[in-house]
Amino acid sequence: SDPDLVARAEAAKAALGERLFVLGHHYQRDEVIQFADVTGDSFKLAREAAARPAAEFIVFCGVHFMAESADILTNDSQKVVLPDLGAGCSMADMARLGQVEDAWDALAEAGVIDQVVPITYMNSSADIKAFCGRNGGAVCTSSNAEVALEWAFAQKDDAKIFFFPDQHLGRNTAVLELGFSLDDCVVWNPHRPNGGLTVEQIRAARMILWQGHCSVHGRFSADVVDELRVAHPGITVMVHPECTHEVVTRADLVGSTEFIIKTIEAAEPGTSWAIGTELNLVKRLADAHPDKNIVFLDRNVCYCSTMNRIDLPHLVWALENLVAGNVVNQITVDVETEKWAKVALQRMLDLPG
Ligand code: 13P
Ligand code: SF4
Repeated sequence: SDPDLVARAEAAKAALGERLFVLGHHYQRDEVIQFADVTGDSFKLAREAAARPAAEFIVFCGVHFMAESADILTNDSQKVVLPDLGAGCSMADMARLGQVEDAWDALAEAGVIDQVVPITYMNSSADIKAFCGRNGGAVCTSSNAEVALEWAFAQKDDAKIFFFPDQHLGRNTAVLELGFSLDDCVVWNPHRPNGGLTVEQIRAARMILWQGHCSVHGRFSADVVDELRVAHPGITVMVHPECTHEVVTRADLVGSTEFIIKTIEAAEPGTSWAIGTELNLVKRLADAHPDKNIVFLDRNVCYCSTMNRIDLPHLVWALENLVAGNVVNQITVDVETEKWAKVALQRMLDLPG
């Protein structure tokens, strides 16, 4: 990266000292991640944000829903900054509060609402998290989806989980971790009346999955898994649970970004790995572990374009403004939304394990 920008980022960080804490998600570019005080998956970063009450500024190198969650979990005097406001998440955008409220009304009409526990993936807007908090539900991330679903099923008799926005994480967790069948899961299409389901389908379902997905992880295909196994006999295939069920069932290991990193760190030299998650992370792992053979599980380039919007020029711009006393790109959540979103986030943080 540009040596001038590197020096400027270092100088701004030094000038802000303890007043600043920089969080970096594992999908961030190398040029940005080098300035993170802590790196992590979305669960670890939420916990880290909550654990830094002394930092006046939290600069979040990640995407919008993560910065919102950090704002919810920090105290009122702390300011959370997202270096580029264009860093959203297409999956989070697939579930809007109005759509979720309409779906909730339809579930009430189907006569099942007393059984339904809403669980939202971290990758959702703060108002969706607040909806879950208000309605007895919780947030989960890819590293605690199994315990979150177990918790949810224990909340009500004959419980059904309404899971959004990622149908794949919901299905993969319910089927592969909790032992449900694919027939126990139905998909709610927010663009069709009654989600495109009959009342009988809704009543029979245990998991009602919002029709959302990650466009990055959706690109990994089962065919490539098969091809790689032929090309590299003995290779271990490890994927993120946002991949399709077809891909995840063909993989050897499935887990969050933090799990993927820890697994590679613990792997024996000389072992071969195919990894199905965002490319910045896979490249960084391959560079950091030249003694292991690490390949990417896709024929094409596969960055998360919104994660990539946080680049060094944006980070330097945000930091230098903070040094000058201007808080740019502050992410704030309104008081009422924050109150209920915090309830849902806290239920997640209180989960065992
Ligand atoms: P984790 O960091 O929880 O593994 O999630 C991946 C992701 O897609 C974040 O947007
Ligand atoms: Fe959203 Fe997918 Fe990018 Fe994660 S990788 S921020 S889920 S689009």
